[in-house]
Amino acid sequence: MWGPASIFQGEGCRTVPLSGHVGFDSLPDQLVNKSVNHGFCFNILCVGETGLGKSTLMDTLFNTKFEGDPASHSQPGVQLKSSTYDLQESNVNLKLTVVSTMGFGDQINKEDSYKPIVEFIDAQFEAYLQEELKIKRVLHNYHDTRIHACLYFIAPTGHSLKSLDLVTMKKLDSKVNIIPIIAKSDAISKSELTKFKIKITSELVSNGVQIYQFPTDDESVAEINGTMNAHLPFAVTGSTEELKIGNKMMKARQYPWGTVQVENEAHCDFVKLREMLIRVNMEDLREQTHTHHYELYRRCKLEEMGFKDTDPDSKPFSLQETYEAKRNEFLGELQKKEEAMRQMFVQRVKEKEAELKEAEKELHEKFDRLKKLHQDEKKKLEDKKKSLDDEVNAFKQRKTAAELLQSQAQQAGGSQTIKRDKERKNFF
Ligand code: GTP
Ligand code: MG
Repeated sequence: MWGPASIFQGEGCRTVPLSGHVGFDSLPDQLVNKSVNHGFCFNILCVGETGLGKSTLMDTLFNTKFEGDPASHSQPGVQLKSSTYDLQESNVNLKLTVVSTMGFGDQINKEDSYKPIVEFIDAQFEAYLQEELKIKRVLHNYHDTRIHACLYFIAPTGHSLKSLDLVTMKKLDSKVNIIPIIAKSDAISKSELTKFKIKITSELVSNGVQIYQFPTDDESVAEINGTMNAHLPFAVTGSTEELKIGNKMMKARQYPWGTVQVENEAHCDFVKLREMLIRVNMEDLREQTHTHHYELYRRCKLEEMGFKDTDPDSKPFSLQETYEAKRNEFLGELQKKEEAMRQMFVQRVKEKEAELKEAEKELHEKFDRLKKLHQDEKKKLEDKKKSLDDEVNAFKQRKTAAELLQSQAQQAGGSQTIKRDKERKNFF
């Protein structure tokens, strides 16, 4: 007997002829309507040295003037500036975020210039991952800030890539779709440009830098994308100035010797870039970001957090099991930590007790010493007092004896005087 599940499973799948119109052929239209109503978002990161024409190219690409003054380049390091705009074309709404580097290549030591860019890209992945991991997710109206395309602006030197370019692109290639472009291509001659493109491509290959390849698996775009892949890196000129050429207004840059028409494919690859980036491959860039770069970030992050799909015997390992294992591991660690802390506490208390006992003993000894000292002092003083008292007594005795002697002497002196007076009277 055929159940609904078995109809769609493997070899048991049957093709059932329909005897009339059912209506599920409108599914693609339903999808289109839903997507159009919901709107789209696209995030571009422009990486390139100061003044290479990043802002001008964005204005030229989207045929508008995005507000924003030239960035200040006096900061000590590289910074990223992000601006989001709501754009509308026909009835399609696009939330466009343009992120641009500020001060890239301005420092004397350029060793860490790539770091803020990598951190920014990772931060957007992390924000999405956190939203995904929430219990109540609102991904359908979440503002996805993950970078879908990184336009890497190469200076039109005509020589080779700078080491800063190679290092930065290498650090970014597993995180974002890199589309290298030669900026200000009007500053380089046609023959030099061909050689420069070859040189850049060979340097990217020899350094193992993976740049974004326009997909060739979809038949409808395989041919154009295949041809365009061979034109990479695109050499672009940007301008928001409109000049009258013939009887048409065109975006161009005018020089004393002539005019560079931005949208003329004989002059530069601007149209190719616009076609590839916006008209043909915008959805693929969004998809690659989600299925390739974000997936890699998510996988590494979840593995870092201890999640895995299989156990050491390669048997499937469910999220629940991972959770239980992690929880037990965590509880075990917590217990160990608690025990260690308890031991440490007991040890500390013992140490403190011993310290206090030692201090008490010292205090007792000190007290005894002081007491003995005090007693000695007291005894000394008492002895001294006693000897002084003895002296005082002796003195008093001597004094009394002296007084006695003196009074006796006086008495004796008095009777002598009377006797002498009597003798004197008798004499007369
Ligand atoms: P910061 O944001 O300050 O890093 O500069 P930026 O890369 O955004 O450059 P911006 O677009 O401000 O352009 C800097 C200067 O280069 C301006 O004077 C532009 O007119 C000029 N410029 C922009 N694009 C091109 C170009 O394709 N060719 C030439 N020759 N000059 C250009
Ligand atoms: Mg700018």
